[in-house]
Amino acid sequence: MRILIEPSAEQAVSRTVGLIAEQMHRNPASVLGLATGGTMEAVYAGLIEAHRAGGLSFAGARSFNLDEYVGLSGAHPQSYRHYMQDRLFRHVDFPRGATHLPRGDAEDPVAAAQQYEARIAAEGPIDLQLLGLGTNGHIGFNEPTSSLASRSRVTCLAPSTLEANSRFFGPGEPQPGTAITMGIGTILEARRIVLLATGAAKAEAAAAMIEGPLSAFCPASALQMHTDATVVLDEAAAARL
Ligand code: GLP
Repeated sequence: MRILIEPSAEQAVSRTVGLIAEQMHRNPASVLGLATGGTMEAVYAGLIEAHRAGGLSFAGARSFNLDEYVGLSGAHPQSYRHYMQDRLFRHVDFPRGATHLPRGDAEDPVAAAQQYEARIAAEGPIDLQLLGLGTNGHIGFNEPTSSLASRSRVTCLAPSTLEANSRFFGPGEPQPGTAITMGIGTILEARRIVLLATGAAKAEAAAAMIEGPLSAFCPASALQMHTDATVVLDEAAAARL
């Protein structure tokens, strides 16, 4: 694991943007694994800026997102498809049909998760997988006690995750309790992993991921087994190392 500690969240974000841009320059036909969450908003803003400035194109790329809420169609404002359209896809030049997320509104979400896994296997491997970090150590929606060998599937969200993500839902707006997520085993098959975590709320999970035992109680600790994983932290998130 390569650990990069930047003085501020802004610098951690631009380091991450730089790593993605570098990957795109090295291989314009990259398959990117993408993540959602508050931390990624600034990363996508940085990618849009680099695209507008010229020199960063996704015209040859494809993408697979980590996860999607079960029960939400892509048009729902809280769906991750909507998040990605709004914060990245509509601003840059991915080819039509090249961006993939699990089908949260599928009639059979279990089958949809298996189809998603098969699609990644067919179009992969993912060249660069971008990850955020849950305050409880989750990656994607692989909550603590998820098998470190897990594949894409339907999962139940932990109470702490529901609480952390409730800020995105309006009062009285139903918040899904289940999601389709890539598995930890699926994530580990990416050629390269870049995880970004910023802020004091992530300090404990970051320490468990990097220095704690390899354990299903901290899903992100699985990155210890990957041969090309880079963790980008700001000083606040690195405070417990
Ligand atoms: C959600 C996503 C994760 C993400 C996490 C962290 O739970 N499923 O992929 O890493 O949020 O989010 P934030 O950046 O908002 O702290």
